[in-house]
Amino acid sequence: MTHTNTSTWGKIEAPAVLVTRKLPDAVEDRLRRTYKAFLNPDDRLYSSDELLNKASEADIIIACHTEKFTADVIARLPERVVAICNFSVGYDHVDTAAAKSRGIIVTNTPDVLSDATAETAMLLLLGAARRASEGEMLVRTRQWRDWSPSFMVGLQVTGKRLGILGMGRVGQVMAQRARGFGMEIHYHNRRPLDPAAEHGAIYHPTVDNLLPHCPFLSIHCPATPETQGLLDARRFGLLPKNAVVVNTARGAIIDDDALIAALRSRQIFAAGLDVFNNEPEIHPGYRELTNAFLLPHIGSATRETRDAMGFRALDNLDAIVAGREPKDRVA
Ligand code: DGY
Repeated sequence: MTHTNTSTWGKIEAPAVLVTRKLPDAVEDRLRRTYKAFLNPDDRLYSSDELLNKASEADIIIACHTEKFTADVIARLPERVVAICNFSVGYDHVDTAAAKSRGIIVTNTPDVLSDATAETAMLLLLGAARRASEGEMLVRTRQWRDWSPSFMVGLQVTGKRLGILGMGRVGQVMAQRARGFGMEIHYHNRRPLDPAAEHGAIYHPTVDNLLPHCPFLSIHCPATPETQGLLDARRFGLLPKNAVVVNTARGAIIDDDALIAALRSRQIFAAGLDVFNNEPEIHPGYRELTNAFLLPHIGSATRETRDAMGFRALDNLDAIVAGREPKDRVA
């Protein structure tokens, strides 16, 4: 059946929903109660061709950032697909202009993962500053031999200045957590926050203005054509020597060669990274660096948050099927 008017759904038969990855049980249960659900219980990553093939039976797709909806993929989606409801806040994996031009609705899941992602950013900040990855390796590989005053000395976080690049929902929660460590917050955002929301954070009108103030820097802006490779060799050079850089946003914001060179030369003390270009085939240079604290894109990976992301995606789906405007429409 081809749907041109979503408000007629439900009167004919349950809309068919293709889910690209294994979702939390509670989310799949709710989905199955109302829709004809095509699930992926083995959690296999579909190729674009497989995805397109499976989409031939779907009216709506619940997708993750692991599936790339390029202009070409969107052009080849079956006519009946009317929406892509993402199980993610980031939607850089979807060519939204292509979706818009085909009239395909695209939604995301903001708000619900801000706490979990800020927790991960804080973990990376502390772990990078205190050399957690290096220390853990020493213990696990039985290379820990001794204690001395000069052993494994890192950087103290308490009371230092933290720069936040992108003061959206996650950035603001990160600022709040960092204040618990007595950190002074500086930030850059497209627009300054209302003074009431700043809680004393200091706004810098450009990235270049912000960086010299940041012995610690946490990245929270979306990946867009404007932020692609934003942190390059020149900008890393604007940070104070021995800075710590944390990224829980998207790998694309960082020029890997530039960061790896700065970590190798110790111009940058350490990096804490949860996201990378070309995941999971990350730049091999990172694996060799003892001053890189690396996590496998688990920013939002808590039970509570993954449930909440799923329910938020379903709320958007329900709205689309009911012919209402979904809360989190991005295209
Ligand atoms: C997000 O929600 O964008 C996370 O990175 C997982 O995709």
